[in-house]
Amino acid sequence: MKQTQKRIVLGVTGGVAAYKAAELTRLMIKAGWDVQVVLTQAGAAFVTPVTFQALSCNTVFTDQWDARIGNNMPHIDLSRGADAIVVAPATADLMAKVANGLCDDLLSTMIAARDCPLLVAPAMNKQMWENKPNQRNVAQLKADGVIVLGPDAGDQACGEVGMGRMLEPAAIMQALEAFFQPKLLRGKRVLITAGATFERIDAVRGITNTSSGKMGFAVARAALEAGAEVTLVAGETAQPTPFGSRRINVQSAHEMLDAVEREVAHTDIFISVAAVADYHVVNQSEHKIKKDSPTLTLELAANPDILAQVASRKYAPFCVGFAAESEKLLEHAQAKRKRKHLPLLVANLVQDAMGADDNEVILLDDAGEHRLPRAPKLEVARQLIAHLAHLYQTTLEGKQK
Ligand code: C5P
Repeated sequence: MKQTQKRIVLGVTGGVAAYKAAELTRLMIKAGWDVQVVLTQAGAAFVTPVTFQALSCNTVFTDQWDARIGNNMPHIDLSRGADAIVVAPATADLMAKVANGLCDDLLSTMIAARDCPLLVAPAMNKQMWENKPNQRNVAQLKADGVIVLGPDAGDQACGEVGMGRMLEPAAIMQALEAFFQPKLLRGKRVLITAGATFERIDAVRGITNTSSGKMGFAVARAALEAGAEVTLVAGETAQPTPFGSRRINVQSAHEMLDAVEREVAHTDIFISVAAVADYHVVNQSEHKIKKDSPTLTLELAANPDILAQVASRKYAPFCVGFAAESEKLLEHAQAKRKRKHLPLLVANLVQDAMGADDNEVILLDDAGEHRLPRAPKLEVARQLIAHLAHLYQTTLEGKQK
């Protein structure tokens, strides 16, 4: 089993969101995790054990008196060796039982006898969510160290709109992956730029580049997973906002600079991943330019270098740059690191990086070159965060001496 593969006991209780637990099971299996589903009687009334057995490739348990476990103690055996018990959906009833130590079925008894973390994703009607006893139970669960994921606000199956929807399976999966990452940047404030800038030519046209924002958003997610508070200044990108980050949308390099300057005083670490245009159009047109002349001349002027400006501040945060080159990667990247006075620079080839799902990078710092193998961008980002956190800590300690 790879180190990142987890063993999860997934508890499914009796709410209509139980159908989404099937998708959550599929996502866990796709990630290479081992999933043991435990259904309550009410959960099994919504989705049958057959569905979960087919998706998890594991026998599903619903009954405390199930004789299929050798020693007849499923409440102990099923969760031993698990990395976590996750209950999704978690009904008000299940949370009330756990908050009060009640054990009257397999799931609640197993939870009481667990020796691993417990995470719950509540799902219920908004009045039930707001019901005072339920709120007391949720507060008690949190005080007892249970991680409560969500709920979300929005349309509910009962037709009402409000707080109580279960988080979407993908968001629960993101939260679980984050839960298992080491908290190397706990409480640190991290500012990240990502995506492409867009320099206006006229009312409908502009100059941009092929950056997808995938790398910057992956870095944001990895920083969140490491426990950082993340502000993401995003240019043009179709990427969904990483759960838990604060996102500021911008278009041009100047707008990006303005946003960064507003935020930077409250920043411990600045990671500049955005592909910022080097020039903007001076003779922008307010209206759409008509094709009434055979040539058109655009006058371009240099944009500010956001990273260089941040790095040269008197109280600069710890600055990390990215360099995408199409040739002479190390030579150009080293020169850039020196010119911008960066403790860490991530070098990648344009051919490898732009728009792709995977990346292969070289980290450059005072100690030299560190090559990371080709991997999905989130994996590369996690390794970058681990390297950066170590370097940041060493730098802090050096300053304190
Ligand atoms: O443009 P250059 O290749 O020097 O970019 C390298 C680094 O500088 C990247 O981290 C990029 O985000 C940043 N940069 C910037 N502002 C610019 C150009 C680049 O912050 N105008």
